[in-house]
Amino acid sequence: MRNSNTDVTYSLLGSRLVQVIVAGLLVFGLLAFGGWRASTVTQQSSGARAAWLPGASDTDEGRIRQRATAAVLGALVADAATMALHWIYDTDKIQDLLSRHGRRDEPAFFEPPSCPYYEYDSGSFSPYGDELLPVLQYMADQERGTLDGPGFAEYLAAYYRNYTGRLNKSSKAMMEAVLQGGRKWPECGDPRDTQANNFVKVIPIVARYAGRPGLAQAVDAAVRAQQNNGEAVELAWAAALVLEQVVLGHSIAAAVEWVAGGAPGSHRPVSKSVLQALGSVVEHRRSNTALRDLLYAPGSASKPGDWGPSCANPGALKGALLGAVQASGQPARGSRAKAASGSSSSSSSSSSSGGGKAGSGAFARGVRANLLLGGDNCSRGVLLGALLAAEGGLVSIPSAWRAKTRGLAQAEVLTEQLLDSRGGSVAAAA
Ligand SMILES: *[C@@H]1O[C@H](CO)[C@@H](O)[C@H](O)[C@H]1NC(C)=O
Ligand SMILES: *[C@@H]1O[C@H](CO)[C@@H](O)[C@H](O)[C@H]1NC(C)=O
Ligand SMILES: *[C@@H]1O[C@H](CO)[C@@H](O)[C@H](O)[C@H]1NC(C)=O
Repeated sequence: MRNSNTDVTYSLLGSRLVQVIVAGLLVFGLLAFGGWRASTVTQQSSGARAAWLPGASDTDEGRIRQRATAAVLGALVADAATMALHWIYDTDKIQDLLSRHGRRDEPAFFEPPSCPYYEYDSGSFSPYGDELLPVLQYMADQERGTLDGPGFAEYLAAYYRNYTGRLNKSSKAMMEAVLQGGRKWPECGDPRDTQANNFVKVIPIVARYAGRPGLAQAVDAAVRAQQNNGEAVELAWAAALVLEQVVLGHSIAAAVEWVAGGAPGSHRPVSKSVLQALGSVVEHRRSNTALRDLLYAPGSASKPGDWGPSCANPGALKGALLGAVQASGQPARGSRAKAASGSSSSSSSSSSSGGGKAGSGAFARGVRANLLLGGDNCSRGVLLGALLAAEGGLVSIPSAWRAKTRGLAQAEVLTEQLLDSRGGSVAAAA
């Protein structure tokens, strides 16, 4: 285009008017070219990992930050609410406990704490919430809120050494590998373990990096510190992608469907096992399968079903995602029925505000339904709580629950501190 303009210029060189017009065209062309360049650069930096879902991502940093904060606090409140009934692999036993203590209407923050594997005070985080905390603490303490493998591995080992609660297998193994074996990141991580410890760690990382470059590297570094294998990283990456899109303003349902479809446009592809896992979540959401019937064998309160109720992945990840998407109450694409809180057997919450959008009732509904399903309800609760709180905003976390969660005020301060390192608006980030 610019070439033909130039030709015209030469043949009419004498006319002043034409000179003015040509000058105008040149200026216009330069401006247009500059604008095009600027928009390309913006797309490359802000869109580095953001805007590929149908419907634009929110670019308002204030709102992104609110959802990111809600994700971290929602994860922690959900974890504390569930802790008292953690690791009970028998839903009849849970129902029995609730009946005996007159708590069928409100299983959250159950008293007395009844986990068979540890005794923590009511309102405390479970060992999973306690595994999210060091990620938050470590990152908040870095000048730019980053997470590097070697530094984080040292920190995590020291954190576990100080921990007076119950340490699970891979936590203990990494601590010993670092402190006794002198191993460095990533060799300190367990080469085979793929249990739910992986996706619990991604929540503060997503809060920091949503819409910004660096998410994939930070997830890889955090997971490998404790679980040094591709499968653990891949499944955590799937959880991070879903949560990121929700923090950027998309619904949980849309985010899950997008990852199940291969996360087109994402700079880091998802693995085959992720496609299978998320595909199965989408399928069961459409058919409105009760989560109970996937975690447990049909008709049984304790015999594991297809997905199983434990910390083992991909069952734990799938359970968290399906539980979140069902509680969020947004109708499934192509499903006629309203997305029921299918798995919730507690009739008490049936009247909770189940509007079309994730209402303020969705977080509580989802956390309660999940905790009643027992097993590793805490690791599921962490991710499900993060997703529902990010979708519904801070107001969706019941204030009474926040008040009961020990250490939440401190976590709030750390979250603020961490999110300060996000810098300005998404489009301005280079
Ligand atoms: C969560 O699971 C644990 C262990 O399976 C169980 O003891 C606890 O009751 C469950 N929580 C709730 C609220 O059902
Ligand atoms: C562990 O405890 C020591 C001694 O109280 C403390 O100095 C250190 O900061 C703690 N480390 C972590 C990671 O919590
Ligand atoms: C942690 O320990 C509990 C109780 O022994 C067990 O049910 C669960 O599978 C373990 N989880 C991990 C991640 O090792």
